[in-house]
Amino acid sequence: MNPTLGVCYYPEHWPEEIWATDAARMVDTGLTWVRIGEFAWTRMEPKPGQLDLAWLDRAIDTLGNAGLKVVLGTPTATPPRWMIDKHPDMLARDVSGQIRKFGSRRHYCFSHEGYRAESARIARILGERYGRHEHVHAWQIDNEYACHNTTLSYSEAALSGFRNWLAQKYQSTDALNRAWGNVFWSMDYDDFDQIDLPNLTTTEPNPAHVLDFKRYSSDQVIAFNKVQTDTLRPLTDKPLIHNYMGRELTFDHFKLGADLDIASWDSYPIGFLSDRLEADEADKTSYLRQGDPDNQALHHDLYRAVGRGRWWIMEQQPGPVNWAPWNPAPLPGMARLWAWEAIAHGAEAVCYFRWRQAPFAQEQNHAGLLRPDSVAAPALAEAAQVAREIKDFGEVIPAQGHVAFLFDYEADWVFGTQPQGADFSYFRLVLDAYRALRRAGLSIDILPKDADLAGYKLVVAPGLAIMDDTLKTRLAEHDGHVIVGPRSGSKDQDGAIPVPLPPNLPGLDATVTFVESIPPGAQDLLEDAGSFVHWSERLEGTANVTLKTKNDHPALVTSGTLHYLAGWPDRAAWDHILKLIAPAAGLYLEVLPPGLRVRDTATHRFAFNYGAAPVHWRGIVIPPAGLHWVDI
Ligand code: GLA
Repeated sequence: MNPTLGVCYYPEHWPEEIWATDAARMVDTGLTWVRIGEFAWTRMEPKPGQLDLAWLDRAIDTLGNAGLKVVLGTPTATPPRWMIDKHPDMLARDVSGQIRKFGSRRHYCFSHEGYRAESARIARILGERYGRHEHVHAWQIDNEYACHNTTLSYSEAALSGFRNWLAQKYQSTDALNRAWGNVFWSMDYDDFDQIDLPNLTTTEPNPAHVLDFKRYSSDQVIAFNKVQTDTLRPLTDKPLIHNYMGRELTFDHFKLGADLDIASWDSYPIGFLSDRLEADEADKTSYLRQGDPDNQALHHDLYRAVGRGRWWIMEQQPGPVNWAPWNPAPLPGMARLWAWEAIAHGAEAVCYFRWRQAPFAQEQNHAGLLRPDSVAAPALAEAAQVAREIKDFGEVIPAQGHVAFLFDYEADWVFGTQPQGADFSYFRLVLDAYRALRRAGLSIDILPKDADLAGYKLVVAPGLAIMDDTLKTRLAEHDGHVIVGPRSGSKDQDGAIPVPLPPNLPGLDATVTFVESIPPGAQDLLEDAGSFVHWSERLEGTANVTLKTKNDHPALVTSGTLHYLAGWPDRAAWDHILKLIAPAAGLYLEVLPPGLRVRDTATHRFAFNYGAAPVHWRGIVIPPAGLHWVDI
């Protein structure tokens, strides 16, 4: 299947007279997909039960007759104002108990049964009308679950849902008290109805209470989504998709993705670098107009796993956005590079957000492919170029990556609850390790804990907080090198320290005796290169010491092909550790020029220059924002 391009379009924002011109221009640009509808509930149902879908029929027909394939969104991220009158308690409450009011979007609590029923109702209305429509070729359910911190809600609906969930999980308060360790501060309960949500406590609540609330909240996102997928399934044969976010870990995407056919995510490289990534100041400056060179790839590799191989970019940044603290414009060429990089990682489709910049409301300064006056913005020509190039390129055939990277949402919930160091973030630990693998020219598959690891010469599993015995045995017996740690296996199912002490890996005699967090500016120096930063562990045991700290403590211990890493390596330390292990694992490390990143498919090695200067690679010069591919 050849990759395709698309765009997000809001017919309800524009006079109907220009829809046909817009559609023709999209087709001229080489676009295949047009996503519509995901925020249009007030236009679909202006008053409760009073439907107006004639305009949507005409919009779908206009776009479809021009040759476009429609992705139809269910509009449940934007319930109309009348919905709040109907269900006044459907609004979420923040951690301080304040209502999150109407007036923007995502103003609903996932636990609210009444709103779930409304979501099923509108999904059924749309499914019955458009499920077999000749121009509707895919569905998007809701929009960006969890965006604007909406997974956790401290509402009455969440409270009663949480109590039921706990009663089902533990069956008795004795079992719950034991699992949570409630004896600690006389926190025991003797009735599930005594248990509150873990907010507004005098000091920190019991971490096991918080962990279960995070698990409960993740389950509600999954249940909310499933109500819509269950409704739509009998009404359509077309793929069901959701557009996930970047660095969003508050619900288990692997579990939610199991109810969908394709994963997609919304990629805003420059916004993310400014607004949600830790990076050196020098890197932030040099990648200001390109975005972090690894963050997009990490999410591509993650969402490929969430979609069980099938994934899209549903929203691709086309120019400056409006929502980050600062919003620089991309270098000319980046709207092309980002699309190609996604395609090299296996994206079936890349859709730009949005067709025309809206001169009104919240996102006035968010670029589109067109300016508000309909003149082409810079990204339009780049999108057209990609469309021509992918046509010539043909099918992109995926290949297994060199490295399996085990990723777990629950690990973030555990460490987010008890970080032990103010700057300990699971995502940041993952990104640092991922960046090191990419600097070495490796292609990575991010996978859930239960994935089949056959064929991977190297498996990495940093910060995998909860590891059951089956996983430990699989890793110990894996036919390839495995790097576990730091903090992997450090918690049991209830979020407590397990005994025997971690990591307790079969065949590796190493025990973490204590841990320390390291504040910014300090480090634990390693013997040959680099340091541990943020986090360092003290080990005892007889395992071979492959790398030591300058204070003579084990930093990396090894038994055969199984390694345990006792700290958080900085850049130099990661590069050194990979040089120690990857060649032994049979992997070739390519020393890439700064800013250059590569990705292998079955047939090609693609190279992308994120740097601000031209680079030399395989005998050619790749300019900033340039890309190149060679046969493998
Ligand atoms: C998100 C949303 C869009 C829009 C863009 C702006 O990705 O899904 O509706 O708000 O951000 O960048």
